[in-house]
Amino acid sequence: MDYKNKNVVITGGTTGIGLATAKAFINAGANVWITGRNAENLQKAASEINNPKLSTVVSDTSKLAEISILEKAVAESGNKLDVLFLNAGIATFEPIEKVTEANFDAQFNTNVKGHFFTLQKLLPYLADGAAVIFTSSTVATAANLGASVYSATKGALNKIAQIAANELAGRKIRVNIVSPGPIATPGLENAVPAEAKEFLAGATALQRIGDPNEIAKTVLFLASDAASFITGTEIVVDGGYLNYALK
Ligand SMILES: NC(=O)c1ccc[n+]([C@@H]2O[C@H](COP(=O)([O-])OP(=O)(O)OC[C@H]3O[C@@H](n4cnc5c(N)ncnc54)[C@H](OP(=O)(O)O)[C@@H]3O)[C@@H](O)[C@H]2O)c1
Repeated sequence: MDYKNKNVVITGGTTGIGLATAKAFINAGANVWITGRNAENLQKAASEINNPKLSTVVSDTSKLAEISILEKAVAESGNKLDVLFLNAGIATFEPIEKVTEANFDAQFNTNVKGHFFTLQKLLPYLADGAAVIFTSSTVATAANLGASVYSATKGALNKIAQIAANELAGRKIRVNIVSPGPIATPGLENAVPAEAKEFLAGATALQRIGDPNEIAKTVLFLASDAASFITGTEIVVDGGYLNYALK
């Protein structure tokens, strides 16, 4: 796919799915901004990508003041955005009786509030006909033990995406959701123990954990003209995890 001179913002682009997607857009010719909370992680990602088309912005999406830093960087570039990939996310898994207010707030502030206000603040900078893609999860549909808060954040995100698709259709902006199943990323590594990863691989029809590049390919498809009549919907990229659980 050709993204030559297209402008792409990816929140949470330092590792995992965001980093793989940044690489894919850069390889397709785009100018890409990635964000993250941590300057060191951003530097590491920049060294790995090693391309002048990549820019990095330290911006914690859970804080409105830091979303403004991203907004300022985009505004100062003088460019309109063709693609906004709202991908930053955190997950913790624990039973309801163990969830603290701090943990609840951290997940909602990052996974829901952050995406909502990033979209709101970047709306004026989206080109007409742009594509917005949210990273949700199969957990928005599944009801796994210990996932009450994380699943609720992704359920909320799906609804925001669907309504954004309706509200932005007048500007021909398409808004879609990519919902990964288990994908081999530092995020999954930190969130679940090794034995849970084995269990997750066995819970997919394809009997494996996915690769971040498999999500990146879906994002590039959704952002492209090949998806010109696709808006307000979700593409599940899970090796058959959701259906396999129901067999
Ligand atoms: N891996 C899976 O199995 C899986 C499955 C379904 C959905 N997902 C979703 O996929 C997305 C990416 O996750 P991943 O698996 O690729 O995990 P990851 O490797 O941990 O990547 C998460 C990214 O988000 C950034 N981030 C986290 N909190 C942030 C914040 N407050 N502000 C800005 N950036 C922040 C991280 O950067 P810093 O740490 O440098 O800030 C990192 O770049 C998430 O939305 C996750 O919920 C993952």
